[in-house]
Parts: sequence; structure tokens; C-alpha cells
Amino acid sequence: MGVRDSAEWQALAEHHREVGERHLRDLFAEDPGRGTDLTVAAGDLYLDYSKNRLTRETVRLLAALAESVGLRERTEAMFRGEHVNTTEDRAVLHVALRDPATSGLEVDGHDVRQEVHEVLGRMAEFADRVRGGEWTGHTGERIRAVVNIGIGGSDLGPAMAYLALRDSSDRSLTFRFVSNIDPTDLAEATRDLDPATTLFVVASKTFTTQETLTNAREARRWLVEGLGGDGKAVAEHFVAVSTNAEKVAEFGIDTANMFGFWDWVGGRYSFTSAIGLSLMVAIGPEQYRELLDGFHTMDEHFRTAPYEENLPALLGLISLWYVDFFGAQSQAVLPYSQYLARFPAYLQQLCMESNGKSVRSDGSTVDVATGEIVWGEPGTNGQHAFYQLLHQGTVLVPADFLGFAQPNDLARDRDLDGMHDLFLANFLAQPRALAFGRTAEEVAAEGAAPDVVPHRVMPGNRPSNAIVAPKLTPSVLGQLVAAYEHRVFTQGVVWGINSFDQWGVELGKVMANQLAPKLQSESAPEYDADSSTDALVRLLREGRGR
Ligand code: F6P
Repeated sequence: MGVRDSAEWQALAEHHREVGERHLRDLFAEDPGRGTDLTVAAGDLYLDYSKNRLTRETVRLLAALAESVGLRERTEAMFRGEHVNTTEDRAVLHVALRDPATSGLEVDGHDVRQEVHEVLGRMAEFADRVRGGEWTGHTGERIRAVVNIGIGGSDLGPAMAYLALRDSSDRSLTFRFVSNIDPTDLAEATRDLDPATTLFVVASKTFTTQETLTNAREARRWLVEGLGGDGKAVAEHFVAVSTNAEKVAEFGIDTANMFGFWDWVGGRYSFTSAIGLSLMVAIGPEQYRELLDGFHTMDEHFRTAPYEENLPALLGLISLWYVDFFGAQSQAVLPYSQYLARFPAYLQQLCMESNGKSVRSDGSTVDVATGEIVWGEPGTNGQHAFYQLLHQGTVLVPADFLGFAQPNDLARDRDLDGMHDLFLANFLAQPRALAFGRTAEEVAAEGAAPDVVPHRVMPGNRPSNAIVAPKLTPSVLGQLVAAYEHRVFTQGVVWGINSFDQWGVELGKVMANQLAPKLQSESAPEYDADSSTDALVRLLREGRGR
């Protein structure tokens, strides 16, 4: 039986018929406590979900749905290390990566906590050596630049977090993140660097990913050429982060310089594994531990809090309410922090690679809509770009607004506190305008000409969450990311899908490997794809002078 047929789902469908069209103006007018009651605090995060098209009863029904699909049991199974990733027959234990306990979780014959802490210790030692100048390059000079080469989960986490925590990073070091196989990515990242003082972190769970290995090979060439052709330099300038020691050795990196992780860490959940190495070098082991502790705080909250007070579960359930009952197809994430510029991109992989599925774990086709298109930009920039559609367009786009009471130290030092207040005023104004809008009467009362009135009416009733934290610290970033991870898990369990595989990305990779030789060959290739692709191959070959 699909979830759609369950009594809890049907109760929500019935409830939606009653409350779905109610306006937020009325919901707020009827329930004066709404703005303070429909909130939840977890760790340092405060979630105000009152500006959503729901009532207290909706929350009760959504929580009942979560209980009925066994979210609690599934969560415990995940934390225990059961093979909840059924299609790959793997445990899913990213939560163990940030658990401060150093032993006592046996999975598939290994104490995973012990292994995690052993790697964390090695990472810390390495990070300290690079930061302290003890790790020197081939010419004996200290390292000045760290270039992380990876893609997807082996890039987005550290790249997003480095930007987010830049203010907590060692400013004497330069950090770059290379992901794209577009050769300009590597070329731009290295153009002003000195090979003698550059360290590459090659990050790849599988160490077979075409983009990463190609970039790593080119980086090696750049380095060796730049250091007079001595191949021995690789040992001092390349470290690897991977689960695949064999492939790392095959590439030519000494496995003594490899930081391992495990198949029970999914790529998009690997940020707190050794994949975070370049970030740890940037912010130092101590602040990295604060980041991990932030994650752990949210992990424990998610595992133990009742669903009506469970921040990640509520985020997941409220989003599902829009996807499945209002037909919403996208979710905007709007951080009011320039430091979080890459957060929406990070969430795109987390959410869309996890829940962009149309088959349930048992192989049957889903009977409800799943996944949502996640997108966004920092405010206030987005306000001057796409918010028009959010306010007056014809599609419903639920939005998460993220805001921080205090600016980071750099802005404080420059005495920019007043500017931060203006920033926060925008953070408050936008959700308010979305929710309550402006009626024709109000517009007319302001003296608008009658023919302009319809254009200036703001319909309102556009839902949003506000997530507030005191300041964007390493711990707060950890709490935020963990909250979204568990939001994704909550949805996946309700939808009955496996949020931990990604078979959908395979076919394109296979086809790229088939097409590469057609572009590369000097003589005319066989044109045996489809008529459109064949014509495009011809065009691109011509453009390349072939
Ligand atoms: O795009 C598919 C994917 O497997 C992601 O899930 C993963 O994060 C990325 O490729 C990179 O993989 P790897 O870390 O093995 O290089």
C-alpha cells in the first residue's frame, strides 16, 4: 500500500480541502499567539513556521503521518548502522562522523566511532602542520595555497563551508576549489599560484570520477612542470581523501598521505568525513570540532524531539505539505548572509540527488509527488532579481529565509553594525510582504490611479519559514546543514524512497564516455547516436577545426 492510501494521508487531504485556501491574514487574525507559538528552537536555531498555510491541526496531522510511516524506527535504524540504503546494501552513518563518543558503535564488524576518531586525529595533525608551516613543499617552502579538487559531495560541502566560515579561516592561506572538467576551472584556480607553495587535496569517494581524476592529472602536470620536472614532488604536494586506497595508489599518491572514509558515507552526506580536510586546514581543528559538535546537536535533537517540536522534521513535513497537497514544485532557500552564497547550491545536491526519485524502495512507482527543485540566492541580491515572481507570479514557491542577529567579526571590526540592521530589516520585510501582501483597497487608499491598482496589488498568502541564529559560527553552520540533512530524510521516509542512492546520474556518465572519443578523434567518427546528438557532434567538431 502506498502512503497515499493511508488514513493519515487521507486525513491531510481532507484537512487541505478545509484550510488550503485560507489566507494567512485571516489565520493570523484568528490566532494571536500564532507568531510565537508556531515556532521551535533547537540548539542555536529558531524556526518560525507561523507564516505557512497551515494551522495547529495541520502540524498535528503531519506529525501523525511521520509516526505512521515509522520515521522514528527508520531514524533509529539509521543511527544504529542498519543497511537502510537498500539498493546499495549499505549502512548510512554520516551521523557517526560527528559523534563525540570515541568508541562503541559496531557496524559490519568495525567500531566505526573508533575509526572516525582515528581519521579525525590524523586530519588534525595534518591541518596543524600545514597551518604551522611544518608541512613544506618540494623546495622546502611552506604551503601558502590549498586547492581542493573534487566534485559533487566532494566539493560542495567544503567549498560552501569555506566561504561561510571565511571569517574564521587563516587569512594567510589561499583556498581554491576546483570541480568542473571545464579546463578553465583549473586554469583559473592555479594561474596566480606558485607550484612550490601549493598543496592539492584530491577528494573523491570512489577515486574514479572522470572530472576529478582529469583535473588531478592536469594539476599534477602543472606542478611537476613548475618544479622542474621532478615527479617526486607529487608526494609533498598531493594528498588524497577517498574510500579507495587502491585507486589512490594507482594515481601516484602515497597512501600514507591518504585520509580515508567509508562506504557508509554517501557523497552528499560526506562533508563531515575527511572530505572536510581542506576546510579543517582553513579553520583549524578546534573550530572544526565546533562545527562537528553543531551537527551532533542537531542529530540528537532530530533523533529525540517529538515531531511537533522537531525542527528538521517540521521543515521536511511542511515542505511535503506544499509538494503533495498544494502541487508546489520548488523550494527557495534565501540566506540573508553573503557568506552563505553557496548554501543553495549545496542544498541542491543534498535535496535533489537524495529525493529526486520516482520509484519507492520496494521498486514500485511512487503514488505521490516527491522531491522539489531547490534554488536560491542570498538576500538582498535575490530581491532585485527574482522576488517579483515570488510576490506576484502564478506559481507557489515556499521559501526558507535564513538570518543572523549579529554580523560576523569582519563587519563588526569595520563598524558596519548599522548596515547589518538594514540587512535584517529586509530579512523581516520580505516574508511579511509575501504573507500579508497588500489589498486593492490599501493600494487605492495610497492614491494609486485606478488602472494601476491591479498591478500593485500584492496577493500575499505566499508561505515561508524564518530560521534565525545569533551568528554564523562553525557550530551554527553544522546545525543548519544537519537540519537540512534530516529534513531530506524525513521526506524520503514519508515518500517511501531511498534517499541515499543516485542511480539517475549514471546514464549520462556512460554516454559522455561514449561521446568523448567522437569529439577527440582526428578522423571522422562513426555517427551512430541519435540525429540530434550526431548533428551537434558535427557542429562542435567543426568548431574545434576537426
Ligand atoms: O554525481 C554523482 C556522484 O556520485 C555524487 O553523488 C558524488 O558526490 C559525486 O558524484 C562525486 O563522487 P566521488 O566523490 O566518488 O568523486
